[in-house]
Amino acid sequence: MTGYSRAHTHMPDTLSSLRVEHLAVSFGRQEVLHDISLGPLPAGTTTALLGPNGSGKSTLLRALAGLLPARGAIWLGEHGLDRMASRERARFCAYLPQTLPPTVAMEVLEAVMVARQAGGARVDTATALAESLALLDRLGIGELALRQMNALSGGQRQLVGLAQALVRRPQVLLLDEPLSALDLHHQVAVMDFVQGETRRRGLVTVIVLHDLNVALQHADHAVVLCEGRLLGEGPSLAIVTPDMLRKAYDVRARIEQCSRGRPCVIVDGIV
Ligand SMILES: Nc1ncnc2c1ncn2[C@@H]1O[C@H](COP(=O)(O)OP(=O)(O)OP(=O)(O)O)[C@@H](O)[C@H]1O
Ligand SMILES: [Mg+2]
Repeated sequence: MTGYSRAHTHMPDTLSSLRVEHLAVSFGRQEVLHDISLGPLPAGTTTALLGPNGSGKSTLLRALAGLLPARGAIWLGEHGLDRMASRERARFCAYLPQTLPPTVAMEVLEAVMVARQAGGARVDTATALAESLALLDRLGIGELALRQMNALSGGQRQLVGLAQALVRRPQVLLLDEPLSALDLHHQVAVMDFVQGETRRRGLVTVIVLHDLNVALQHADHAVVLCEGRLLGEGPSLAIVTPDMLRKAYDVRARIEQCSRGRPCVIVDGIV
């Protein structure tokens, strides 16, 4: 189940796809990711990273972001990401962790501006201010701009974290369960926004998700991990199948079409 068709042929050739070759990660003597080869994930596409708890999704995302020592190779077009110094790599990749770190007393707007100017990005304060405000507005949280970071709700904090990742204008956007604290409205808004930005700017976006219906409706591609190994990758509809759901999650499930013809996962029980 490998190989992708180029979903967005209008993308200029200068935009790069992401490839992973024989990636492995160990903690001490314990290898938790085994020989993962993925892609190419083309620029402009959103990939859902799926799999049960403990299957290695966060570990893979952190390895892609360069936050963990890993064996193997990671290519963004011709750039060997795994060979870059962390500062250079951070210019290419933005990462939103599953658990957001504690924050200091700082206004939301300031925190997003700091993210915009991180890693030596050459941007003046007026531009950083305008871009940060515009992004907060587009994420529907403009009214939080002058609030203190350490006085936000969990979902608000997650939306600001997403703004901090997006404002850096990465080529690779790595989001670990970005919807976990969000209400229904914000889940849809964030997925629409991320998929739209990914297409518009030609990003390679990888999002860890547990909601398979979100994956089916908002991700072009899916990658499934199970026990640290790759179980499948390809177009979401070809990957999210009753057989895969049984193998990965030990559930009995169907993929049915809703009255509007959209695919939808229905779980009948556990195996
Ligand atoms: N720092 C660490 N030291 C040792 N083992 C770790 C460490 N981090 C993760 N692991 C182990 O690696 C495996 C994969 O963990 P990972 O966090 O990548 O899973 P996940 O797929 O993101 O799960 P979840 O859906 O629960 O977030 C698990 O068995 C976990 O216990
Ligand atoms: Mg995780």
